[in-house]
Formats: sequence, structure tokens, C-alpha cells
Amino acid sequence: MNRVADKLNRPLRDLRISVTDQCNFRCSYCMPREIFGPEYAFLPKDKVLSNEEIVFVAKSFAQLGVQKIRLTGGEPLLRPNLSELIAIINTETSIKDISLTTNASLLPRYAQKLKDAGLKRINISLDSLDTDRFALMSGGRSSPEAVIRGIDAAEKAGLPVKINMVAKLGVNEQDILPMVSYFRGRKITLRFIEFMDVGETNAWKMDQVVPAKRILETIGEHFQFEAVDPSYTGEVASRYRFLDTGSEFGIITSITSPFCGTCNRARISAEGKLFTCLFASEGTDLRKHVRAGISQEEFTSLVSKIWISRDDQYSEDRSKGRPSRSNKKVEMSYIGG
Ligand code: GTP
Ligand code: 5AD
Ligand code: SF4
Ligand code: SF4
Repeated sequence: MNRVADKLNRPLRDLRISVTDQCNFRCSYCMPREIFGPEYAFLPKDKVLSNEEIVFVAKSFAQLGVQKIRLTGGEPLLRPNLSELIAIINTETSIKDISLTTNASLLPRYAQKLKDAGLKRINISLDSLDTDRFALMSGGRSSPEAVIRGIDAAEKAGLPVKINMVAKLGVNEQDILPMVSYFRGRKITLRFIEFMDVGETNAWKMDQVVPAKRILETIGEHFQFEAVDPSYTGEVASRYRFLDTGSEFGIITSITSPFCGTCNRARISAEGKLFTCLFASEGTDLRKHVRAGISQEEFTSLVSKIWISRDDQYSEDRSKGRPSRSNKKVEMSYIGG
């Protein structure tokens, strides 16, 4: 193992791999329908990394200290045979903490297969339990009931679940308490995400962000809770525990309280570009090297050089009013969140 640290002394620990840029939802904050319509040019199949190519890449990241892989999309379950990819990451690399971020619509079909292949945990997006507001947030496809069926399937398969709820002011703020009550009751961790200025298409405005402080006040009016230490260094969510049930909730405060100082995440797009920040404009084309037959050792050294020269801290820069180094940010559905 040859651990590396970047210019701000942040190690490389987590790898987020987008396995497809396509999704069967059209969340307003991620893939607005008006932009991601029938004309939108998704990646052609031959540009997407194959399972073998992903494993080759993952082996080098493991060499450099990565202990966690999160598979993302778009919607990762739209990739054919995702469980095969999980199985080979599990058997051919040293990385055993393999997780998935999904909208859950296809979990009733796949949860057990994913678990059997070696998946450890699942994070599921759900923004409302109300049919109309769910539709407004997720673009009018699927339903809260379908997502709940996915959650049930994941739990039945023995996969620990966390829920991600993006809160938008004036759209689904009234869903905070019903979501808290429901998931507290099921002892499932619910995490609120401040609406982020990712990509260029979601018409982000600061006045649509529900700040963490307001979320905590809303929950505090009904339930007693205490802050809990992070479960690992660099965890994105701040954790809280309800005093009565012992179950937890969290908040991801990338707008009001950025966490760039401990950011140890690398991201790879479905076409094999390496991004050192969620808000970057450019990534390094890894696919070209992999397809040219680079050796594992040379590839590890290439990734190491990129990490060592990393100095991104976009959210921190934004909150301090420093000029952004990103001119055209990549889309959330392309980079996988
Ligand atoms: P755990 O391993 O369960 O802690 O997963 P996670 O929270 O890292 O992953 P998930 O895919 O569930 O991400 C939750 C939210 O956090 C998404 O909106 C991500 O875009 C956001 N997020 C994750 N990492 C970063 C990051 O490095 N910077 C910013 N700004 N947001 C992030
Ligand atoms: N702001 C905050 N969270 C977002 N997600 C997607 N787009 C945004 C955004 N603009 C969330 C999804 C999913 C996770 C990967 O990222 O809800 O849970
Ligand atoms: Fe699809 Fe997730 Fe983006 Fe929603 S947030 S459009 S479910 S990738
Ligand atoms: Fe990491 Fe960039 Fe997010 Fe900061 S803004 S936490 S550097 S991904």
C-alpha cells in the first residue's frame, strides 16, 4: 500500500464510481426534464467503462489507500448486471466496503442479488411521502410507494439502508417532519441534504436552500436529540441521535457549513474521467490509458500524481466568497453526486 495525501494533506479514502449517466427519474435538482429530454445525448455504450476496466481502476485506487467504493449513476441499477460488477470488485480487489446510491425503484428486483454479490449498504433517495410533492421533486415518474417497496426489499435482503432527502424551500419543506416520524419509526437513518449548486442545469438559487439550522429547529420542536461523533473521518453527514428511540438522522451541509477540509473522495464518471471535486469542470481521462494497455503499476503512479496535486475546495471557496475555479461544472447525474 502506498498511501497518498493531496496539497491540503487530505488522504485518498473513498472512491465514487458512476456506472451509468442514465436515470429513470428526472429530479428537478439533478436531471430537470426540460434539459434531460429525448434529445439529450447520453454516453454511447462503447464509451462507458466495462466491468473489467472498472476493476483495473479500482485496484490502483486500493493501492493508494481507498477502502470504500460507492457505486452511483445516474441510476446505477440501470446498468445491466450490476451485481456481477460488485462480485468482481469484491473478489478481485482488497476493497470490501462496497455501497450503492440509488432511487430504489428497481430494488425489489435486484436487492437480494446485490447482497449475494457482496454489496454492504445502500443509500436511497426519497424527498417526500406525499404523492404530489414526490412527483414534483422526482420529475413525475414512479411514486413514494414504489420507493418504499425498494426500501423494504433492501431490508429484507439484509442490507443496511440510509435515506437521502433533498430539501427545497417552498417545495418540500413541509415533508421534513413526516419523513422524520416515518423513518424514526422504522429505525432507518434519514439524512437531509442542502440543495446544492451542482452542475449548470438545476437553476440553483440560495433562497431555495433549507439551511441545516432550520431543519434542526423544525425537528427540535417535536423531538429531543443529541449530536453524535462522525462514524468515520471525512463523513459528509453530521449525525444526530433521538434521545427516546436511539435512532439517528443526519444533515449534509455543503452550503451552510462546507466539509472540504476532510474531503477524501475521488470520483470517476461512467466514461472513466477522474474528478477530484464534485464541482470540478474538468476530469482526467483515465479510459484512454486503460484502453491503451497501461500497466497496473504505471496506472497507480498516474492516479497518485493527480491526487498529490489536488487542491480543490469548491464549497469552502464559495462560502468564503472566493472566486470559483470552476467555469462549467459537470452535471450531478454524470459525476454521480
Ligand atoms: P456514506 O458512506 O453512507 O456516508 O455515504 P455518502 O453520504 O458519502 O454518499 P451519498 O451518495 O449518500 O451522498 C449523500 C449526499 O452527499 C449527496 O448529495 C452527495 O452528492 C453529497 N456528497 C457526497 N460527497 C460529497 C462531497 O465530497 N462534497 C459535497 N459537496 N457533497 C458530497
Ligand atoms: N443538491 C443536493 N443533493 C442532490 N442530489 C442530487 N442532486 C442534488 C443537488 N443538486 C442527491 C440525490 C442523491 C444523492 C446522490 O445526491 O438526492 O440522494
Ligand atoms: Fe436520478 Fe438520483 Fe438524479 Fe434523481 S437524483 S435524477 S434519482 S440520479
Ligand atoms: Fe470535496 Fe469538492 Fe465537496 Fe469540497 S466541494 S467536499 S472538495 S467534493
